[in-house]
Amino acid sequence: MIEVKVPATSANMGPGFDCLGIAVNMYNKFAVEEIENGLIFQGGDEKYNNEENLVYVAMKKCFDKIGYKPKGLKICIENDIPISRGLGSSAACVVGGIVCANELAGGILTRQELLELAVEMEGHPDNITPALFGGMTVSIYENNKVYSSSVNVKKGIKFCALIPDFTLSTEKARAVLPKNIEFSQGIFNIGRTALMIAALNNGDFHLIKQACKDKLHEDYRAELIDSFYAVKEECEKLNCLGVYLSGAGPTIMVMLEEENHDFCREIKKFLKSLQSKWEIRELQIDCEGTVVRHVS
Ligand code: HSE
Repeated sequence: MIEVKVPATSANMGPGFDCLGIAVNMYNKFAVEEIENGLIFQGGDEKYNNEENLVYVAMKKCFDKIGYKPKGLKICIENDIPISRGLGSSAACVVGGIVCANELAGGILTRQELLELAVEMEGHPDNITPALFGGMTVSIYENNKVYSSSVNVKKGIKFCALIPDFTLSTEKARAVLPKNIEFSQGIFNIGRTALMIAALNNGDFHLIKQACKDKLHEDYRAELIDSFYAVKEECEKLNCLGVYLSGAGPTIMVMLEEENHDFCREIKKFLKSLQSKWEIRELQIDCEGTVVRHVS
């Protein structure tokens, strides 16, 4: 049996639309084995346990690429990453499925091939790359190739995910984005993306607040997220390093100094006053990425 653990990821990180992403310590776990025939699911959400299951579709894609034909499959799924919340749950399922299939077939594909296969399915690389490699990554996708590099984040920061009880599909959140942007908006985001990378790499955490700003997606998506600006403003008042919409949302991600022990307690009080229910998860950076274990 093959066991695979894949971390949640927070994409965009403010200005880095479709290129920045970071893995955090919340996980989906998959265990797969080849059986005599048929397709059996265990765990996961019943309504996704069919041939359209993302983990299964990703496994099939990988088997097809390798040319491997399993007799039957048993797929066990343990989801801790909430679905359609901007924390990379679909990336985790795609990466999990592809890595499981590759291992079952004998570990034929390289890490780069696994990355490109997963990004081809997902459409953009910013969740897939950190889900596979861990840590913070910069990645771009061009002509079916992924170009990526890791960012060494200085010790001293942690994250707090504010996760509402409503979902937002990436498809819907991308549909509200403009087709064109102003030149000045491009400049705004390029500078801040570069500043975010440098600030995290050098430990210049006081710059994160400026670096976090975005003009490419957050304002368009805000209308889809109940109390988005109110939550953001409150976080800023509570002495956070930075706050941004995680991926396509609706989760709002807060960056904090490691020794900030008051934020979670204070923001909890505020979130209780809102109409929707919000869960708070304090998170650390995951540096391992996808982990594989062969169990006999
Ligand atoms: N960069 C993507 C977006 C992440 O913001 O649409 C969503 O998975």
